[in-house]
Amino acid sequence: MTSGIQGLNRTHYCGEVNHVPEGATVTLFGWVQRRRDLGGLIFIDMRDRTGVAQVVCNPETFPEAHAVAHGLKAEYCIAVTGDLMKRPEEMRNPGMKTGDVELSARDVVIFNEAATPPFVIEDGADINDTLRLRYRYLDLRRPSLQRNMILRHQAAQSIRKYYDANGFIEVETPVLAKSTPEGARDYLVPSRIFPGKCYALPQSPQLFKQLLMVSGFDRYYQIVKCFRDEDLRADRQPEFTQIDIEMSFVTMDDVLKINEGAIADLFRETIGVELQRPFSRLSYDRAMSEYGNDRPDTRFGMLLFDISDIVEKSNFRVFTSTLAEGGVVKAIAVKAPHELSRKDLDSMQSAIADYGAKGVLWARLDEDGWKSTLSKFLSPEQFAAIADRMGMSPGDVVLIVADKKNVANASLSALRLHLAERLKLIPGGSFSALWVTDFPLLEWSEEQGRLVSVHHPFTAPAPEDLDLLDTDPGRVRSQAYDMVINGSEVGGGSIRIHSRDIQQKVFKAIGLTEDQAKVKFGYLLEALQFGAPPHGGLAFGLDRLIMLLAGTTSIRDVIAFPKTQKAYCTMTDAPSAVDPRQLTELGLKWTEVAK
Ligand code: AMO
Repeated sequence: MTSGIQGLNRTHYCGEVNHVPEGATVTLFGWVQRRRDLGGLIFIDMRDRTGVAQVVCNPETFPEAHAVAHGLKAEYCIAVTGDLMKRPEEMRNPGMKTGDVELSARDVVIFNEAATPPFVIEDGADINDTLRLRYRYLDLRRPSLQRNMILRHQAAQSIRKYYDANGFIEVETPVLAKSTPEGARDYLVPSRIFPGKCYALPQSPQLFKQLLMVSGFDRYYQIVKCFRDEDLRADRQPEFTQIDIEMSFVTMDDVLKINEGAIADLFRETIGVELQRPFSRLSYDRAMSEYGNDRPDTRFGMLLFDISDIVEKSNFRVFTSTLAEGGVVKAIAVKAPHELSRKDLDSMQSAIADYGAKGVLWARLDEDGWKSTLSKFLSPEQFAAIADRMGMSPGDVVLIVADKKNVANASLSALRLHLAERLKLIPGGSFSALWVTDFPLLEWSEEQGRLVSVHHPFTAPAPEDLDLLDTDPGRVRSQAYDMVINGSEVGGGSIRIHSRDIQQKVFKAIGLTEDQAKVKFGYLLEALQFGAPPHGGLAFGLDRLIMLLAGTTSIRDVIAFPKTQKAYCTMTDAPSAVDPRQLTELGLKWTEVAK
């Protein structure tokens, strides 16, 4: 198969030997997973990226091979040539893909010895994360990570095939670029030739792809690295990969249809899952009101209900004062049968500690009436109205949060997910994909004291709200959409502004003066004057898609060389100090930065 080394030719991969006819001569290349010396026979589990094969060395038939095998240790890199044999019946291992066969070694060659590895290279071993990242090249030898990398490769192939078949052209865009805001900090690259000036690594190729539309490449895609200096989470890395798409002469429906096709193909071709199509659509307002979140996990129900109107006339101060201050009272119901004890219900607060809600109240509807600390505050009619609105039956529990709208939504949304996990409400292996649409164009940022774009400032306003741009920009809806699968935002995009006038109005609404807009985005404004076509697109987070396909909750499991939570590479020690001469060339001098 592959040409070899020192006259050896690999004939098969380890994971394939079960397909080899008995008696055939086979050469495998790989690593020693395990060596068992039974006094006479030596067994070697030999691993490559396809799996593990058992090698047996017999001192009587091939003493030289046996002698070499005797010195093997874990992770030695070896070649073995031998005869493929069926294992004796009692030695078969049905739990192993190649468990019926073994290679009877005639010749064992050591390509390279290995130092004692810092951890056992096996799935399921409890290994410290820092150590895994420090020796990532060893961690990557583990079958699960090898599978994830191969899955990622297959996903990229599926994506390229789909977009190519649909007339998209892959175009590369610059990495040394000018800052395009996507809401995070930029990674900057100081210029040697222009002292005092920096390139920015792209947070996305947003404006380049729009300019490609102006150039006439009406269907563009790219699998592209993006860089964002932001707080990292389980599904965020400082450098991550987008499947970036842009199309001309399209409506939102066109964009959604063609791109959900790509994702449907991706799931089918990589993991054999048929996503239900067309994907359902949910407006941003409904997502927020029913799920408390703009990336709802729709694999289970337990929707949020607003019960403010029911409880506003109660004599419970928490409710009345929250409502008087403009807050809301919202609730979710847990259906019977469930295993929530009184103690569990009393401890729900801790599940939402990060979201700022002052408390979670609960009430249980039993056959003989309500059990709740609220009993003395709510009338039977009020309880009945809650049960009616929330479709409750005996045994069900309602959990209530009274707070500012955003706090109540965030808390109940988190509680909903916590309960789903706790009560195992989500069927394993299920996938639910949807589009969230009708986002607001702008939102108020307390931190910046101005309106900011919900997506980015190139997103087109809904045509029917155009007039509001001048009068009440905060109320303008956008033509933006996100794709959400199982509660993960896997993609987002919009129809873009293709008129210079409207683009300038949006810049103004987010507080950019004409001059500032010209300095930052002059090239875009200029390009829009040269027959810019109507266009729109989106970008998928490839890493997040692979996480879903691989069934992992950590983005690090799907990236070959990821960074830590602090954006640090433990293996290479990046970022690192640089030669002072390099700084001098760049005209840079470090000063202390207050953290
Ligand atoms: P957005 O900022 O929504 O849109 O990014 C698109 C998708 O990229 C993924 N993503 C990330 N994945 C891992 N780590 C990160 N730090 C990270 N940040 C984002 C998410 C997200 O949905 N230019 C626009 C797209 C467009 O309008 O066409 C953009 O970048 O899955």
